[in-house]
Amino acid sequence: MQLLTDLSETAGTAICRIDVFIDGLGALCQPDFMKQRVDLSGTAFGDVDQTGHAVSFISYLDEATSQFKVLKDSTHSVLRPRPGERVLDVGCGSGDDVRELAAMVAPNGCAFGIDKSESMIEEARRRAAGCDLPMQFERGEAVRLPWQSDYFNACRADRLLQHLPEPDRALNEMLRVLKPGGRLVVVDRDWGMVALDSPDSATTQAVLNRACAGIRNGWMGRRLHGLFKRASLTGVQVQAHAITITRFDIADTLLDLRIVTEHAVRERRIAHQAADAWLDDLLERDSAGTFLATLTLYVALGHKRATV
Ligand SMILES: C[S@@+](CC[C@H](N)C(=O)[O-])C[C@H]1O[C@@H](n2cnc3c(N)ncnc32)[C@H](O)[C@@H]1O
Repeated sequence: MQLLTDLSETAGTAICRIDVFIDGLGALCQPDFMKQRVDLSGTAFGDVDQTGHAVSFISYLDEATSQFKVLKDSTHSVLRPRPGERVLDVGCGSGDDVRELAAMVAPNGCAFGIDKSESMIEEARRRAAGCDLPMQFERGEAVRLPWQSDYFNACRADRLLQHLPEPDRALNEMLRVLKPGGRLVVVDRDWGMVALDSPDSATTQAVLNRACAGIRNGWMGRRLHGLFKRASLTGVQVQAHAITITRFDIADTLLDLRIVTEHAVRERRIAHQAADAWLDDLLERDSAGTFLATLTLYVALGHKRATV
């Protein structure tokens, strides 16, 4: 497993790819988790409360957090929160990253988390209760942040922009609340950069295309570089991270494989028999220990232009 190099140490725009290899993680195949699974694919993360299944989304985030732990830790070192600073996590979900950041800015700083979902913010506050760390959670919209301009030293958004109708507005809003020179780190998946080993390349491509099409901004990962540059951030650096998975159940959770396959059949993108044979083959590979899927996330770092 290779760790992210510290982007902030490198001058200019850097684009590289680092691989993280996941194997032998057991939590995702627990029966309780599988029983709770609902359709988390597509645009549902854009309005979790409306789905009526917030608990499933929170469980999904817990599993994703454990899979992306190495990546998340490295994004915190790229953001470099220091004691005494104010830092913000936009689309904070159940608040695990905010608690990590709070420990880094303590005792005189404060970590703030904001999320559109009331259920996520309730869960974040519940998890923070009893933690003697400086943090606050707010329910609110990424495109209307309830803070004055130039307020935060650093800001992050992790797998948020892919779900927003206007990601550039959210980016501008994060820049507004950042102090001049403040650091911004955005992490996002690129659903067009998924690899899956299967003898049936046509069905594989049809399912992966459907998965990407279901996300509001399926190519958000690769778009971050241009988005940051157009918004005039300075010192922009971007890294791609490949997460390699060798278990079907983990891939099924992170890629919504079975649910997306059902969508593809219903929409007549693939035939029912082809879909069944394709999934059977993946499960056989899983049993034989030969299953492989890779998904890609991008991490972008930039700084708000300092005023002259
Ligand atoms: C994929 S989750 C990621 C959560 C968290 N950043 C993490 O890494 O675990 C996306 C989060 O963004 C929130 N969200 C979606 N649309 C939002 C919006 N317009 N404003 C603020 N939060 C939003 C969702 O409620 C959800 O908690």
